[in-house]
Amino acid sequence: MARPLIDGFGRRITYVRLSVTDRCDFRCAYCMPLDQQFLPKRDVLTLEELESVAMAFIDRGVTRIRLTGGEPLVRKGILDLATRIGRRLGHGLQELTLTTNGSQLARFAEGLAAAGIRRVNVSLDSLDPSCFAAITRKGRLEPVLEGIAAAKSAGLGVKINMVALKGMNEDEILPMAQWCAEQGFDLTFIETMPLGLIEEDRTDRYLPLTEVRRLLEARFTLSPLAERTGGPARYVRVVETGQKLGFITPLTHNFCESCNRVRVTATGTLFMCLGQEDRVELRDLLRSGGPEALDSALDRAMALKPRGHDFVIERRGSPPAVARTMSMTGG
Ligand code: 5AD
Ligand code: SF4
Repeated sequence: MARPLIDGFGRRITYVRLSVTDRCDFRCAYCMPLDQQFLPKRDVLTLEELESVAMAFIDRGVTRIRLTGGEPLVRKGILDLATRIGRRLGHGLQELTLTTNGSQLARFAEGLAAAGIRRVNVSLDSLDPSCFAAITRKGRLEPVLEGIAAAKSAGLGVKINMVALKGMNEDEILPMAQWCAEQGFDLTFIETMPLGLIEEDRTDRYLPLTEVRRLLEARFTLSPLAERTGGPARYVRVVETGQKLGFITPLTHNFCESCNRVRVTATGTLFMCLGQEDRVELRDLLRSGGPEALDSALDRAMALKPRGHDFVIERRGSPPAVARTMSMTGG
């Protein structure tokens, strides 16, 4: 790669999470308030602009792109965009993936596979219909399970993401692990992160993954894997089932030293860290200066990438680390 993207701490950026919309058909209680205000459409990048952003990064050595939201599958034209970006697979891009809540996956699974996507991450915090409805507030479990089944039939690899929530899905840790093992899905647990204001105090629902691990170890033998993806997850193998489990512990561990990623919001703001404010606005540059302006903005951005986040969740009543929710930055 002629001009790789390297930040001020020597970390090479090879992974971009590209949010295609801030909108979502769910209102997960830990993610956003029920009355979340979404952005006016004119502020959101067009499909062509999203494609240009993706191309600019691929031209600078980014090998993996993840489409996110909000819920990416509620964005009109998402298959078109995935197909266009997918054409760069094998030409710079090594992997195109998607994170989804699964609600629309039954409709899109085949198309996504045809676009070159091989794996999807599906957020699934409960297998119990009423608990699922209580967490997501606008979601129903059944279509999500149908979506997951459709993804599997379309040949997509499925990884389930489960946010661990005290007093909500604590008793589903083992059943979820069991179900994922039966289905052949990897499973990653996530601690709630202090991103944006919601109705409740996240402290009340914070379940440290040390506790999740303890619950799992009562039943299974977990053998640590050395594997790292440059991301925040640590992995173990469940000896009894062969299943891979991930743990994302932003609160109890820091993983920023090997960070290889940046995030672009649906409005074209390039955030250098999920938990910090450092940013470069790409949209207006793109609209006025085209690809060259975008390319030089990426160089400026590299100098801004902070060493890491500094999440804390112990201090009751303290404000979130950043005002924007995960759905705004791109989950
Ligand atoms: N803390 C932790 N995880 C979150 N997600 C959304 N908001 C938060 C938060 N505040 C999760 C979603 C999804 C992933 C993209 O991020 O459940 O699995
Ligand atoms: Fe939507 Fe994901 Fe946030 Fe739930 S966690 S409201 S599915 S963006």
